[in-house]
Amino acid sequence: MLRFLTAGESHGKGLVTIIDNFPAGVKIDGDFIDGKLALRQSGYGRGARQKIETDKIEFLSGVRGGYTTGSPISFFLKNKDYENWKERMDNYKPFSEETKIHVPRPGHADFAGSLKYALDDIRNVLERSSARETASRVAVGAMCQALLKNFGIEFASAVIGIGGMGEINAPNRRRQLKTSENTKKAGDHVFKSNNLDLFDEIISANIHNSELRLPFPGLEKKIRLLIDEAKKQGDTVGGVFEVQVKNVPVGLGSYIQWDEKLDGHIAMSCMSIQAIKSVEIGAGVISSSIKGSDYQDSIFYNKAAGRYFRKTNNAGGIEGGMSNGEVIAVRCAMKPLPTLMKPYLNTVNLKTKKDEKAFPERSDICAVPAASIVGEAAVAYSIALFFLKKFGGDSLTEIKRNYDGYIRQISGAA
Ligand SMILES: Cc1cc2nc3c(=O)[nH]c(=O)nc-3n(C[C@H](O)[C@H](O)[C@H](O)COP(=O)(O)O)c2cc1C
Repeated sequence: MLRFLTAGESHGKGLVTIIDNFPAGVKIDGDFIDGKLALRQSGYGRGARQKIETDKIEFLSGVRGGYTTGSPISFFLKNKDYENWKERMDNYKPFSEETKIHVPRPGHADFAGSLKYALDDIRNVLERSSARETASRVAVGAMCQALLKNFGIEFASAVIGIGGMGEINAPNRRRQLKTSENTKKAGDHVFKSNNLDLFDEIISANIHNSELRLPFPGLEKKIRLLIDEAKKQGDTVGGVFEVQVKNVPVGLGSYIQWDEKLDGHIAMSCMSIQAIKSVEIGAGVISSSIKGSDYQDSIFYNKAAGRYFRKTNNAGGIEGGMSNGEVIAVRCAMKPLPTLMKPYLNTVNLKTKKDEKAFPERSDICAVPAASIVGEAAVAYSIALFFLKKFGGDSLTEIKRNYDGYIRQISGAA
């Protein structure tokens, strides 16, 4: 089974990642991976740290001559900032009391982490719980995308809203990706067709040209001002992003066991990203207030093309825990980042038990654009895992054979 593990601290020497059971024969383009890593470091509202780091993947094993070999893949992502932290990250030298942190920052892993692991220096928690770890996940996701590209599966992501601005606030927020064949009124919940297609050429160019990764440029200025204002106030903002995946074959995942469900795994992959507080598939939360007759995506058959299709996609491409051949659409909400530059938050010194204010530490004001890249990678890992469960083999050649046979089987059934 495809799996990966990461290790490394935010200010340590770097991140080490091992990917196990990645098939042989997949072409690996270092520039593609580095491009994704650069996107994770970019975006309006990021802090000074990103100016120090320029992540470049360094393979230690499993990739040779531009192709995966089938052996475990390991890679290193160097923390350039380590040079400034050598003293405080020393492996052996004991740390003086003055350098230790005893004041947990609300919203971080600090409090529960230091109690759970009986650590008398919160730095041990914050170094590992930091979102620096997401660099590893982005590189793993890029590798998964390289594998899935061989089967025409493509990924896109965009920021939908920040700090309450954007589509998330629209009263007619929809989840119908295409015009509904069902024109019946359903009170306030009739959705205007939005046709949000992140693969559309113009939308794709907009996302590419936007420092906020917005699909529509209209709000760019306003949101920048919102972020600038938050910075002035020493505050932070969150937001919502969307990931879409197209050309996923029907039948990844299964209904037969709870932990075989594709939507369940995607939810875990995305929810485990630092600061993500909700994951929606398709219409998501909004589906709770739509009538069944409006929500379900009717099934049609195009004789000429010899394929089934839907006119709507409220299910976000997954029914019964399985991909249904439509675009998989996942939305995630990111909370406002917990480190604030002004002492707004009350906390307690774990040593003295006295009230204190949370300490500011170099931090981002908004990391939603970066999180959208992490989300894309997280979804790519889930899709690759389930793709390999279905078509798995030791090499790309073997997987292609399995895939082609299955596609013949399901088109024969049509
Ligand atoms: C790409 C990315 C960058 C982040 N940058 C920061 C940051 O600069 N400051 C901060 O306080 N939190 C940041 N976070 C969020 C924290 O890491 C996260 O809130 C914290 O680890 C607690 O986890 P939880 O919010 O999932 O409970 C970032 C998250 C992501 C995904």
